[in-house]
Amino acid sequence: MNGKIKGIKSQSKIFPYKLKKIQIKSKQTGPTKRFISEKNLFESIFYVFEIQILIIFYIFLIPNLLRIMKKAIKIFAWIIGIVLILVLAGFAYITMAFPNVSPAPELSIDYSSERIERGKYLANHVTVCMDCHSVRDFSKFSGPPTPGTVGQGGDRFDQSMGFPGVFYAKNITPYGISDYTDGELYRLITSGVTHDGRAMFPVMPYLYYGKMDPEDIYDIIAYIRSLPSIASEIPESEADFPVSLILKTIPVDPEPTQKPDPGDQVAYGKYLTNASGCIECHTQADPQGMIKKDLAFGGGRNFPFPDGSMVTSANITPDSETGIGNWSEQAFVERFKQYDPNRYTPATVSPGEFNSIMPWVMYAGMKEEDLKAIYAYLQTVKPISNSVIKFTSSVE
Ligand code: HEC
Ligand code: HEC
Repeated sequence: MNGKIKGIKSQSKIFPYKLKKIQIKSKQTGPTKRFISEKNLFESIFYVFEIQILIIFYIFLIPNLLRIMKKAIKIFAWIIGIVLILVLAGFAYITMAFPNVSPAPELSIDYSSERIERGKYLANHVTVCMDCHSVRDFSKFSGPPTPGTVGQGGDRFDQSMGFPGVFYAKNITPYGISDYTDGELYRLITSGVTHDGRAMFPVMPYLYYGKMDPEDIYDIIAYIRSLPSIASEIPESEADFPVSLILKTIPVDPEPTQKPDPGDQVAYGKYLTNASGCIECHTQADPQGMIKKDLAFGGGRNFPFPDGSMVTSANITPDSETGIGNWSEQAFVERFKQYDPNRYTPATVSPGEFNSIMPWVMYAGMKEEDLKAIYAYLQTVKPISNSVIKFTSSVE
């Protein structure tokens, strides 16, 4: 035993502190001596072990450690480099490969008066292009277009309304669209890509327009070409990062359909409901502004007014408790027709009083048979139980 301690003693240069501790302990005499000696045995074995590690550490590891560390730094730098290259390549890929849509078609649309007339109906009462592309007057109920501004653009959608950026509806009178060919307009309306190849954020519901009958789109193009030109300059839209990058992947080629026969009421209603973009406002959206498809038409999307009041879209699924399942066709049509411009002058609304962003006054111009078809279709969608408080006033 002593020999082992001596053994350690001989290594004392390496680890003097612990050895000193042992020496102090071994100076003790009397009945506790044996116990201490046993303890020392364990400690000694432990120290031998520890010392071996130290030797390995000093002789072998220290010089190698530098080499190992150098290697690790090299590998780490490679990984960072590769990740960086991948990110940059992804960035470049999205920027160059998207928007991934076909070139604008060669078109020359006949601007016949029938086309213009049908386009006027669609653009004002169904696809409601003229709602966004005018200056809406929210001092009146449902924000009707300010007379004299129809088509000049300027409607602003920004972060305060839950949009990931600032988007302005453009001037679509001949002043604004003179450098567009008909084919470029068709591509813009149906796939959201401008004539200079920029992807638009789908505030404008182009993904829905892309499913319309090309004949209907041609009618709309003929109509906007016939509008009185208004010289208004609209600021460029700007999406926030990273939506500015993601949004390039949103435009897709249109998937045109043929307008169903009005006799097939549900199919025709489905076509009109798609063209009117009802689903966009009447469905809750995620933080990127994309609607949650499984909650379609269930309502509950919030639209704050600048004064702090909030209007929330209604549940228009056929749920009988919380939706419009109990509404008769007549009640549905009348809900729209009460705002028919022939019967109704938009009421003045003070801040805090009930107002809606739903363009009631524009939809009110829809033909009764078209409203009935929309009703028939909505009665076939999946019922969703979601009770909505439609308005919260900023005024107590
Ligand atoms: C919900 C609002 C909304 C509706 C409805 C809407 N738009 Fe737009 N529109 C916009 C916004 C916002 C932009 C600009 C988007 C951007 O710059 O990213 C735009 C851009 C355009 C442009 C591009 C003009 C340019 O100078 O680049 C045209 C043309 C256009 N819309 C036509 C239409 C037509 C036709 C319809 C109906 C079929 C329509 N819009 C319906 C909001 C709307
Ligand atoms: C720009 C957004 C927007 C669009 C587009 C829109 N709505 Fe609405 N809608 C609302 C909001 C918000 C409300 C709740 C406030 C109100 O009654 O106006 C509402 C209410 C309604 C109501 C009343 C329900 C009730 O319980 O009183 C019906 C019916 C309705 N919408 C049907 C439609 C249909 C059909 C379309 C498409 C043709 C449509 N909406 C398009 C925003 C919109």
